Amino acid sequence: MKKTLKILGILMGAIVLIVLFGAATIQFSGIPSYETNPPSLTVEPDSALIAEGKRLATLVCNHCHQAPSGKLEGKFMSDIPAEFGKVWAPNITQFPQSRLAPYTDGELAFLLRTGIKRDGKYAPPWMPKFPHLSDEDLHSIIAYLRSDARELQPSEKVQPAPQPSFLVKLLCRIAFKPLPYPDKTIEAPPITDKVAYGRYLVTSKIDCYSCHSEDFKTMNIEEPEKSGGYLGGGNPMLSPEDGKTVVYSANLTMDKETGIGNWTEEEFIKAVRFGQRPDGKPLRQPMIPFSALSGEEVSAIWAYLKTAPPIRNEVARNWGE
Ligand code: HEC
Ligand code: HEC
Repeated sequence: MKKTLKILGILMGAIVLIVLFGAATIQFSGIPSYETNPPSLTVEPDSALIAEGKRLATLVCNHCHQAPSGKLEGKFMSDIPAEFGKVWAPNITQFPQSRLAPYTDGELAFLLRTGIKRDGKYAPPWMPKFPHLSDEDLHSIIAYLRSDARELQPSEKVQPAPQPSFLVKLLCRIAFKPLPYPDKTIEAPPITDKVAYGRYLVTSKIDCYSCHSEDFKTMNIEEPEKSGGYLGGGNPMLSPEDGKTVVYSANLTMDKETGIGNWTEEEFIKAVRFGQRPDGKPLRQPMIPFSALSGEEVSAIWAYLKTAPPIRNEVARNWGE
């Protein structure tokens, strides 16, 4: 009996040591690194490509990288829950010491598609990935980042490096993995094919689905439609305004009671482009008015949403007063 207890004790001790050792390894080695294999790519900029890149950046990059000064010099991200650590979006202006400056076009394409930075480190989910963006749209962002736009003029601001929590380091070992670099060119459907184009905007270009499904933890970047509660809303997010208030994403499916099945197309376009609901309530951040999207584009999104399976999910809107 005594002997068995002793062996048990030793075994338990060994398990505790192994767990501690594993935890220490994760804590000190941090976010994992991967091999980088950027494509050889030189984007040939022209004014149309740069203009589209600028528009796209206002839709999918600037709300994180743009400081109140207007420059893309980065900022503290107040809407990242404390359990994930402290995160700053870096300076991506043309300052020679910015995080963007050393990147080649190929390395940028590789980062934006796979999530692997040029130093091989994986960028955790606080920096989005664009595996299904068309090559042309991807090139437009790169052309824009090289352009002489005012907001990209050098700023010497240096943001602190993100301080990921143990949880993020752990998840980056077991759950979040870089995406493969596509082996074929990707083309966007024509805007005249409304449903297909709307789907492209929702799943690949503006990524409405990422916020509007049930949770970031069950989102499927490779196959967006397989995300948990696809477009059914309820994803809890912190308001970037105070870093405290929880705002749940809205149900964008056509369920008549809990979704937007009773809205008209005009009401939808107004909400998306100007942040105003049919009942007059202003939509709160992190939903931003997508005024850079054209009426035609939002109409395509509407056409696509009408084809997505309705989900009955009553979202707590906690409007406050
Ligand atoms: C939701 C917020 C968010 C959005 C949107 C976003 N980024 Fe980032 N970005 C970050 C954060 C946070 C980091 C820091 C990542 C890290 O080092 O862990 C980062 C890092 C970067 C880096 C530096 C990588 C390095 O080597 O350190 C570049 C370049 C970049 N982003 C470009 C972009 C571009 C271009 C877009 C739009 C297509 C974009 N980002 C959209 C938050 C964001
Ligand atoms: C960064 C996360 C995020 C992204 C990206 C996002 N949304 Fe939202 N959206 C929200 C949140 C959160 C709300 C709820 C706001 C509130 O309750 O005030 C919301 C609300 C809405 C509403 C209002 C619905 C209602 O019932 O009140 C519509 C419509 C909408 N979003 C459409 C879109 C579309 C279309 C896209 C893509 C072009 C998109 N959203 C992208 C977070 C996001």
